[in-house]
Amino acid sequence: MAIALITGITGQDGAYLAKHLLGLGYKVYGAARRNSNYNTERLEILGVEKDIKIREFELLEESNIRNVLEEVKPDEIYNLGAQSFVAASFKTPLYTSDVTGLGVLRILESLRSICPESKFYQASSSEMFGKVLETPQNEDTRFYPRSPYGVAKVYSHFITQNYRESYDIFACSGILFNHESPLRGNEFVTKKIAKAVARIKKGKQDQLKLGNLEAKRDWGFAGDYVEAMHLMLQANIADDYVISTGETHSVKEFIQASLEVADIPFEWEGEGIDTCAISKKSGKKIVVCSEEFYRPAEVDSLLGDSSKARKILGWEPKTKFASLVDLMVKYELENN
Ligand code: NAP
Ligand code: GDD
Repeated sequence: MAIALITGITGQDGAYLAKHLLGLGYKVYGAARRNSNYNTERLEILGVEKDIKIREFELLEESNIRNVLEEVKPDEIYNLGAQSFVAASFKTPLYTSDVTGLGVLRILESLRSICPESKFYQASSSEMFGKVLETPQNEDTRFYPRSPYGVAKVYSHFITQNYRESYDIFACSGILFNHESPLRGNEFVTKKIAKAVARIKKGKQDQLKLGNLEAKRDWGFAGDYVEAMHLMLQANIADDYVISTGETHSVKEFIQASLEVADIPFEWEGEGIDTCAISKKSGKKIVVCSEEFYRPAEVDSLLGDSSKARKILGWEPKTKFASLVDLMVKYELENN
């Protein structure tokens, strides 16, 4: 039975990947940082909590990482752990660099001496393309990160590549574009919108406050994307792959689609920071923009070209934008 170690097991992708690997017959270890109460909610929602062996694991602490690798000796390591919220990285740039950037080096150094045969997956990000230099973005597009998070991911991307080339480690980076699900963290824009729209529908919330509604993202479904992570580690050669849908939509379009799923009639008014959505029923503003959710530097538009993954891995996204919005809003209407 193959053994997988997933860091960031308590996060969105950790939960979906664990479920996928268990379904394929893997023994799954989940690496989670110490907490007064491990946040296993997502694993419980997917019904896999009892099948995963949790080990204490802190990306800031090399001795901790070494102990886990010595005990588990994984065939495959999926490094999903990170300070992953872009907005927070402007407030905690040093911490983000340490966890999201140097944390990867700590794992690679430990892997190199303890289990050099382990295959390694690094969670790279479309945030590395930042102020994009071409559209769509593929594996050869130059990076231009726009946040401390993006810069840390560029470091971790290149250090993974460097360890592959220097020490012949089977190390891959998946350059994943935004992927969402009902298990998405509450601060990310899709979850924030889906949750608020359901609450507005139920009369539990009056208004949703957001930042830049013009930003565009290539949004896919997390359940589809974790399959690509696994496929990368089964390929003959270790390499890097863009994973995306090839469609881009604005935050405004996401709101529009969400209000339609919840059957809330509305109309748009204003432009830029004065944009708002007015309920046709109450005449009140149900969506407004606020300076507090704008970022010091923005990634305006992302659109991925995942033809390499389609060709070499046989991977393709199954969930389109409309189905993703439907899935997320209906989940909130039923469970919120
Ligand atoms: P997420 O839900 O925010 O999960 C992040 C995970 O990292 C959580 O389990 C978190 O643990 C853990 N973590 C944070 N700091 C840690 C530390 N110091 N030591 C050990 N673990 C730590 O993120 P996600 O959406 O699942 O994304 C997974 C990975 O893919 C991340 O590396 C992210 O940057 C990257 N990525 C995500 C997307 C996307 O659209 N979702 C796109 C491209 C790349 P706690 O539960 O204790 O906080
Ligand atoms: N979070 C948030 N909250 N974003 C908002 C808001 C708001 O109130 N209003 C507008 N936005 C805009 C942001 O400015 C950004 O342009 C866009 O919505 C998406 O924001 P997030 O959902 O926070 O995601 P992200 O694109 O910054 O980062 C996510 O995707 C990256 C891949 O490109 C994260 O999952 C990263 O970890 C990941 O690497």
